[in-house]
Amino acid sequence: MSKTLIYAHRGASNLAPENTMPAFQLACESGAEGIEIDVQLTKDRVPVIIHDENVRRTTNGTGLVQEYTCEQIKKLDAGSWYSTKFSDCSIVTLDEFLCWFKTLPMLLNLELKTNVIEYKGIERLVYDALQSHQMLDRTVISSFNFNSIKTINEIDPHVQTAFLTSKKRHNLVKFAKKLGTTSLHVRYRLLDKKLVKDCHKNKLSLRVYTINRPADMNRCFKLKCDAIFTDCPYEAVEYRTQI
Ligand code: G3P
Repeated sequence: MSKTLIYAHRGASNLAPENTMPAFQLACESGAEGIEIDVQLTKDRVPVIIHDENVRRTTNGTGLVQEYTCEQIKKLDAGSWYSTKFSDCSIVTLDEFLCWFKTLPMLLNLELKTNVIEYKGIERLVYDALQSHQMLDRTVISSFNFNSIKTINEIDPHVQTAFLTSKKRHNLVKFAKKLGTTSLHVRYRLLDKKLVKDCHKNKLSLRVYTINRPADMNRCFKLKCDAIFTDCPYEAVEYRTQI
């Protein structure tokens, strides 16, 4: 069993505004193996990278992502909320991100944010974008909405998918297997030795979010989780060398 991989959660989001190019660039320089991004759809059906359904928290705008055209949403300031030194940051489209990311030797976790707004057809749009950038073989597509996972599996059964959950559920591993996912992405409080063992026995990768405390990182490394998602990839890379 190989080492626990590190995915920078929304980029190196402890050092730069989440889901923006500076956060992605820092993640790439940190030594993390992967980056996690969140994808939603604009009014004109362009996949864009932003965590919340509403732009209020991470931009200078208000309202839902789906109320903006791509041209309008690109004009928002997506950095000043974090620090004025990032005031030139804009929301990144999935296409812009993939043009840059595909040249790097890194893994991608793309979360479809379909748990609050369904964004009908987002699965096909995202799949086509990944395919056209030849990124399918190093991407795992995850979602809290299991219908999105089912749709991706129907589009292409060879794509790596992950069911995301923060809730304790009886027979979680069995549920994920039945869904046809290749992995489970769980909140840290769900992690225990038995879950790791059950996942591996059932050939599921287990990745855990969001791990920012050194003690929690160490526990994930020792339990041999397949990967962690962290806002602090530099620290995680450093702590992993001490295991
Ligand atoms: O994909 C792991 C983690 O990002 C899931 O939670 O709320 O950050 O989308 P959230």
